[in-house]
Amino acid sequence: MIILKTDEELARMRASGRIAAQVREAVAQAVRPGMTTRELDELGDRLIRAADAKSAFFGYRGYPGHICVSVNEEVVHGIPGGRMIQLGDVVSVDVGVEYRGFIGDTATTVMVGVTDPEVIRLVAAGRQALDRAVGLAVAGARLSDLSHAIEQVAVAADFAVVRDFVGHGVGRRMHEDPQIPNFGPPGRGPRLRSGMTLALEPMLNMGGAAVEVLADGWTVVTRDRKPSVHFEHSVAVREGAALVLTCVE
Ligand code: MF3
Ligand code: CO
Ligand code: CO
Repeated sequence: MIILKTDEELARMRASGRIAAQVREAVAQAVRPGMTTRELDELGDRLIRAADAKSAFFGYRGYPGHICVSVNEEVVHGIPGGRMIQLGDVVSVDVGVEYRGFIGDTATTVMVGVTDPEVIRLVAAGRQALDRAVGLAVAGARLSDLSHAIEQVAVAADFAVVRDFVGHGVGRRMHEDPQIPNFGPPGRGPRLRSGMTLALEPMLNMGGAAVEVLADGWTVVTRDRKPSVHFEHSVAVREGAALVLTCVE
């Protein structure tokens, strides 16, 4: 866990966050039926390099992609490849970049001509869960208040949260302490302090919470193969309100 101490460190986290967010938005808006997820990866790779940054994912524990693209039953860590996007899909795009020594990590889920009201509701709940957690990422809060709020949003909408993958501290490395589960009782864990930087990332499933990893060693799918969504921001804790680092300005 890093705690940002200088304006220079904060400026660098903002810069890497901004690049990650710009790439996330550009790739998410490029998603069209008939495209392969590999084409989205190529776009992400180009944009990351054009920004003078590096993919934080490529080569991470041997990960072969530059971004993660997870379609429908794929929860997270989808390796881009030959899968073709189809009308009615939900597509999550996760982008991590390193820029001048600091990491930005962010994800969003877009709908491709979705008409199923349950899927629309799932996407809205995922976005709301992230928004709630960001709203609670203020100095003085307890870490598990964020976890609890995410779970509350999911439960209230009758969806399940993924329990096998968590949010995390982010800074000079992509995955730093603490782990941030998307469930649990409030009022536990460390007290948040100004300058802490966190990656908050709810994963909500339409069906059961159970997930499994495919034989490629990466792609996480729902066990019941029902759709899942993923939203992620890197934020800096402050007094009063969190600063969202992964926003396009
Ligand atoms: N970005 C993911 C996260 O949000 C981690 C991706 S690891 C990778 O924590 F190797 F798949 F890139
Ligand atoms: Co991520
Ligand atoms: Co993350």
